[in-house]
Amino acid sequence: MRNLAGLSLRQRLLIGGAVAGVVLVVVAVLLIVISQTDAADEQPIAFDHKVHATNGIQCQFCHVGVTQSPVAGIPSVEKCMGCHEHIATTSPEIEKLAGYWDRQEPVEWVRVNRQPSYVYFNHQSHIAGGVTCGACHGDVANMTVAEPVVNMNMGFCLDCHSEQENAEALRDCVVCHR
Ligand code: HEC
Ligand code: HEC
Ligand code: HEC
Ligand code: HEC
Ligand code: HEC
Repeated sequence: MRNLAGLSLRQRLLIGGAVAGVVLVVVAVLLIVISQTDAADEQPIAFDHKVHATNGIQCQFCHVGVTQSPVAGIPSVEKCMGCHEHIATTSPEIEKLAGYWDRQEPVEWVRVNRQPSYVYFNHQSHIAGGVTCGACHGDVANMTVAEPVVNMNMGFCLDCHSEQENAEALRDCVVCHR
C-alpha cells in the first residue's frame, strides 16, 4: 500500500470511511455472538441434557407433549422432584431446584427455539410422521446446554416437505402460515 501522506484528502476520507465500516461490522458480529452465548448461559438452573440421556431417560419422558400436541412442553418442578427428592440431593443446582419446590414456584426456563408468530408448527404431526428430534434440534442428548444448532428457516422446512409423498400439499403457504 502507498504511504498515506501521498494521498489526497478525498482518498484519505474514503479509506477512513471503509475502516470505520469494517469496525462497525466487527462490533455488530461480536454483539450478536455475545447475546447468543448469554441466552445459553442464563438458564435459572444448569439443566444438563447429556447427564440425563446418559442415565437412559428418554426425551418423551420429559417432553410429553410431542406425541399429543403442537407443543413439546417442559417438565414441571414436580416431575423433576419425582427423581431429585432422592437423587443428587446435596448438589447446589438440586438445592436450587428444591427451593423452587418448597416455594411452589415454577422455573422460568429461557426459551431456546422460537418461530415467528406467523408460523404454525406442530410437534405431534412430525413425530407421527417419523421425523426424529435430531432432524430439527441436533444431537441434544450430547448437549450440556440446549442450543439451537439447526437454522429452522423457511427453506429448511420446505426442503424436507419437498421430499415427502404429498410434497405439493405440504408446500402450500397456508400449511405453515394460517
Ligand atoms: C429430565 C428431563 C428432560 C429430558 C429427559 C430431556 N429434556 Fe429437553 N429439556 C428439559 C428442560 C428442563 C428444558 C429447559 C431447559 C433447557 O433449555 O435446557 C429442556 C429443553 C429442551 C429443548 C429446548 C427447548 C426450547 O426452549 O426451545 C429441546 C430442543 C429439548 N429439550 C430436546 C430434548 C431432546 C431431543 C431430548 C432427548 C434426547 C430431551 N430434550 C430430553 C428437560 C428434559
Ligand atoms: C427420571 C429421573 C430424573 C428426572 C425426572 C430428572 N432428573 Fe435430573 N438427574 C437424574 C439423574 C439420574 C442424574 C445424575 C445424578 C448423578 O450423576 O449423581 C441427574 C442429574 C441432574 C443434575 C446434576 C446434578 C449434579 O450432579 O450436580 C441437575 C442439575 C438435574 N439433574 C436437574 C434436573 C431438573 C431441573 C429436572 C426437571 C426438569 C430433572 N433433573 C429431572 C435423574 C432425573
Ligand atoms: C420438524 C422439526 C422438529 C422436530 C422433528 C422436533 N421439533 Fe421441537 N421444535 C421445533 C420448532 C420449530 C420449535 C419452535 C416452535 C415454536 O416456536 O412455535 C420447537 C420447539 C421445541 C421445544 C420448546 C417449545 C415447546 O414446544 O415446548 C421443545 C422442548 C422441543 N421442541 C422438543 C422436541 C423434542 C423432544 C422432539 C422429539 C421428540 C422435537 N422437539 C422434535 C421443531 C421440531
Ligand atoms: C425432516 C423433515 C421435516 C422438516 C424439517 C419439517 N417438516 Fe413439517 N412435516 C414433515 C412431515 C413428514 C409431515 C407430515 C406429513 C403428513 O402427515 O402427511 C409434516 C407436516 C407439517 C405440517 C402439517 C401438519 C399439521 O400439523 O398441520 C405443518 C404445519 C408443518 N409440517 C410445518 C413445518 C414447519 C413450520 C417446519 C420448519 C420449522 C417443518 N414443518 C419442518 C416433515 C418435516
Ligand atoms: C413448511 C412450512 C412453510 C411453508 C409451506 C411456507 N413457509 Fe413461509 N415461512 C416459514 C418459516 C418457518 C418462516 C420463518 C423464517 C425465519 O424465521 O427465518 C417463514 C417466513 C415467511 C415470510 C417472512 C420472510 C421474511 O424474510 O421475513 C414470508 C413472506 C413467507 N414465509 C411467505 C411464504 C409463502 C408466500 C409461502 C407459499 C409459497 C410460504 N411462505 C410457505 C415456513 C413456511
